[in-house]
Amino acid sequence: MSLLVTGIGELVTNEPSTPGAEPGPLGLVRDAAVLIEGERVAWAGPAARAPAADSAVDAGGSAVIPGFVDSHTHLVFAGDRSAEFEARMAGRPYTAGGIRTTVAATRAASDAELRSRLAGFVRELHAQGTTTFEVKSGYGLGVAEEERLVRLAREVTAEVTFLGAHVVPPEFDGDADAYVERVIGPMLTACAPFARWIDVFCERGAFTVGQSRRVLQAGADAGLGVRVHAGQLGPGEGVRLAVELGAASVDHCTFLTDADVAALAGSDTVATLLPGVEFSTRQPYPSGRRLVDAGATVALASDCNPGSSFTSSMAFCIAVAVRDMGLTPAEAVRAATAGGARALRRDDVGVLRPGSRADLVRLRAPSYVHLAYRPGVPLVDTVWIGGVPV
Ligand code: NIG
Ligand code: FE
Repeated sequence: MSLLVTGIGELVTNEPSTPGAEPGPLGLVRDAAVLIEGERVAWAGPAARAPAADSAVDAGGSAVIPGFVDSHTHLVFAGDRSAEFEARMAGRPYTAGGIRTTVAATRAASDAELRSRLAGFVRELHAQGTTTFEVKSGYGLGVAEEERLVRLAREVTAEVTFLGAHVVPPEFDGDADAYVERVIGPMLTACAPFARWIDVFCERGAFTVGQSRRVLQAGADAGLGVRVHAGQLGPGEGVRLAVELGAASVDHCTFLTDADVAALAGSDTVATLLPGVEFSTRQPYPSGRRLVDAGATVALASDCNPGSSFTSSMAFCIAVAVRDMGLTPAEAVRAATAGGARALRRDDVGVLRPGSRADLVRLRAPSYVHLAYRPGVPLVDTVWIGGVPV
């Protein structure tokens, strides 16, 4: 069965070689159509040249974009930290110390509770146009506890990240090295079968660059891809470690030195910006412009978690990245789709071209620009995942 989505006023394909596309990285086609066959895109281009299909839907002149690819979330957790947010807005600084609050609540929660919260988040993501998402562990911090989190995450996404090295749990206070041994030993063995990625929080107050290197190396040796949290609370060596190890992505990048930017620009490591974090912690916004101008690949992600950024809205991230990080609307939309896909080393999502997954979003707007122009307004109309409306 084939379905033609036609009457698209403005189609973002992220594929410059699309028939009829205007010049530029968005591969923008006006008066466009997309042919879906099964769960894949079979064709995209000007509606006037569209092939015949079994059925058709009319997008009524609205914009259609690839589904958002949110390459960074921490969605398996329990508890609530709204009081911490409230205190921050009154001037208290963010520290990673709050992570332990969530660890305690998560350890105390049943599988059923975690599963039901996760299902709620998945509905929330889909309703907002996110069609591919990564989920990290990191609120268990014990062998059985982390195994449980990656197992539950694996029920909702293939993009699971083992983040046993999030912070040192209370049982290992004052002995981070012993905790690292636990992470790279039995915890990694238990978690690797459910995970595609390994991650570490390389930051003062979390793990040193030496400890981070050991964690990432062990994960890579176990067959996991590498991603890194770095440069969130201050500059450090984490970004360059990520580049050196060929990480798919280094995330936060709030504080970057010129050497970090140069290293990113000369590498395949994506710089993933998390605007929700600066928004929710009152940290300074990093310049996305500086990264793009240097030649680095930039992604936008929500970092949805109960502490530093409790938003799951990629549209919100786009709006903030345009308003406060110096990205153009086109760059921000690309970073939230193709950029996220690159950060997950996926070439079947974040793009609409023959063979890609039919994950697309019809906006209640004539242009992708409205995602930044109309902040806070729910513009997502229809969402197709694998060719099926959700
Ligand atoms: O990505 N930076 C470390 N981890 C999370 C925050 C987790 C929390 O505060 O609970 C982050 O921002
Ligand atoms: Fe994070």
